Amino acid sequence: MKLAITGKGGVGKTTLAALLARTFAARGRAVLAVDSDPSPSLARALAFPDELLEELRPISEMDELIAERTGAQPGAMGSFFTLNPRVDDLPERFSALHDGVRLLEMGSVDSGGSGCICPESAMLKTLFTHLLFRDDEVLIMDMYAGVEHLGRATVDFVDALLIVVEPTRRSLATAAQIRRLATDIGLERCSLVGNRIRDPEDLAFLEREAFLPVLGHLPEDPAVVEADRRGESAYALAPRLREAAGRVADAVVEAMPAGN
Ligand SMILES: Nc1ncnc2c1ncn2[C@@H]1O[C@H](COP(=O)(O)OP(=O)(O)OP(=O)(O)O)[C@@H](O)[C@H]1O
Ligand SMILES: [Mg+2]
Repeated sequence: MKLAITGKGGVGKTTLAALLARTFAARGRAVLAVDSDPSPSLARALAFPDELLEELRPISEMDELIAERTGAQPGAMGSFFTLNPRVDDLPERFSALHDGVRLLEMGSVDSGGSGCICPESAMLKTLFTHLLFRDDEVLIMDMYAGVEHLGRATVDFVDALLIVVEPTRRSLATAAQIRRLATDIGLERCSLVGNRIRDPEDLAFLEREAFLPVLGHLPEDPAVVEADRRGESAYALAPRLREAAGRVADAVVEAMPAGN
């Protein structure tokens, strides 16, 4: 099962990604969490200890490896390179594992010019498209905020796009834009997840304005900030969020075609 989590800046994408990753891991599934934000924060949300953070190297910085696997110099435009570099050993080599969640950071993938399929993005896309996932594996991608990256069709291989929204018109407007782009790249399975729900009015607003199925919602909970300051995960420190994430996970699985 491959999920991408997207939405307007600051709506809680990373918070939801971390909660879902821990939820699926606790259910015994093999979880690969991918931070595709060029300024990564998922490791912190998952409370990865410092020594593991040091082990992590963004795969986009693997210049030599990219050159070796794709046959092109990184960043070189217009050069020929193999479109299907061998990638199946990458998650093991460049990721770190903590609390049952394997984490990979993509780093910044600079396309180096419009319309250029540079070797780095060929590599990244191959990694997630052709990687043989185990049957019980769950890929959770924490996406870069906003919409531009979707234009590069970096996520057209996912099974579902979860768009995080706060109960505000602004975050719903961004969600609508994301949905349009997703449709353009042929990604039909999109849904909303509400975040920072404070009261029944927030929920009613969201349900009234929603233009996609709402898979669930997370409450506003100051324990998220508390967890961050203490270097712990919201999963460990915020039972209300943990329970809410469990319900979102159930709904995600429910909405999947059989076999996921
Ligand atoms: N349910 C919640 N209750 C309280 N605070 C929350 C909640 N969800 C997120 N936050 C807080 O909101 C801020 C943004 O959350 P988060 O980093 O998850 O958003 P994001 O969408 O990943 O942001 P970015 O676009 O910068 O990647 C964080 O400080 C986080 O602690
Ligand atoms: Mg984030």
